[in-house]
Amino acid sequence: MALGTDAAIDLGTSRLQIYVSGRGIVVDEPSVVAFHSDTDELVAVGEEAYKMVGRTSDRVRVEFPLNGGVITDFALVEQLVAVFLKKVSSSMVFMPRVVACIPGEVTEVEKRAVVNAISTCGVRKICLIEEPVAEAIGAGVDIATPHGCLVVDIGGGTTDMAVISLSGVAALRTLKIAGNNFDEAIMKYIRKKYNLLIGKRMAEEAKKAVGCVYPQPTSKTFRVKGRNALTGLPQWADITSDEMLEALIDLGMQITREIQEMLEETPPELVGDIYHDGIILTGGGAQMYGFDTLIAKKTRIPVRVADDPGTCVIRGAGAALKYIDELDNDGIGQLNPLIGEY
Ligand SMILES: Nc1ncnc2c1ncn2[C@@H]1O[C@H](COP(=O)(O)OP(=O)(O)OP(=O)(O)O)[C@@H](O)[C@H]1O
Ligand SMILES: [Mg+2]
Repeated sequence: MALGTDAAIDLGTSRLQIYVSGRGIVVDEPSVVAFHSDTDELVAVGEEAYKMVGRTSDRVRVEFPLNGGVITDFALVEQLVAVFLKKVSSSMVFMPRVVACIPGEVTEVEKRAVVNAISTCGVRKICLIEEPVAEAIGAGVDIATPHGCLVVDIGGGTTDMAVISLSGVAALRTLKIAGNNFDEAIMKYIRKKYNLLIGKRMAEEAKKAVGCVYPQPTSKTFRVKGRNALTGLPQWADITSDEMLEALIDLGMQITREIQEMLEETPPELVGDIYHDGIILTGGGAQMYGFDTLIAKKTRIPVRVADDPGTCVIRGAGAALKYIDELDNDGIGQLNPLIGEY
């Protein structure tokens, strides 16, 4: 029997999520840190820091310390994790044991950075789990049956595609095209068409409201506000979902093509399974209107968006916490619930 509580952590490019056994998801905040540029003193983290994006003065800087799913600023990530892990563990009697999610395609150095960032916060034990595996569990795939499935995680920094089979991850592709690129494409489009400069947060809001990669049955509009690139004066424009489609379809197609290429390289038996069960979309970006239709049309394979796609990885890692006892107490093991090997 485990003493105290266990936690799962997903350090994403866009969001930091923490799941605590017996409680569920207790932290789901933007992976953002605000700090004084001269003293490096922490000003805010998470949601509070995200509100400062594009609104900072010379003295306060706001940074996303992860990029493309990997840590780019170690000191900032450490502070980000420390704030939230402390919040969570202060209510625990014992130091927590942690399962940390790592992207499918990372180097040993990048893996080590994740472990270090978390272990400095005082945890008893850390295990790693590959995101595609966690994701499949979170999406409700029955990983105990010998069956192949294809999960596609459209995150903030990367789109990770993985074919999962009995032995684990059978094939993996990572594309550095995801949510952030969609935001940038929207900013670029609006600047070009309306001479209107908008910030990243405004672009993201517009994307969530009317963004699409397949024509919407009824056109929707969203008002974006910013500043005229020439005059510098405040300006707004009503952006339609049709315009969004124009701005975003290229990126949507690049992701779709990557899935097609991956399928071409997948062993026939597994493709048969995938064909039968369909492709599963997860990650915050899977909520974009039309991704399922676009991919289904191009691959001719049914596609389903997982329930609550933005929390699939963390829920799956949370469910994998029950295997943490099987790992010995020292060292950093890697959990692979698929083959019961730790
Ligand atoms: N309704 C929506 N429509 C389109 N995109 C959305 C929607 N909701 C969230 N997103 C996008 O999903 C992305 C974040 O997804 P997620 O939280 O899965 O990423 P992450 O795990 O932090 O990143 P990564 O896995 O790449 O490291 C952001 O770009 C966000 O704008
Ligand atoms: Mg992610």
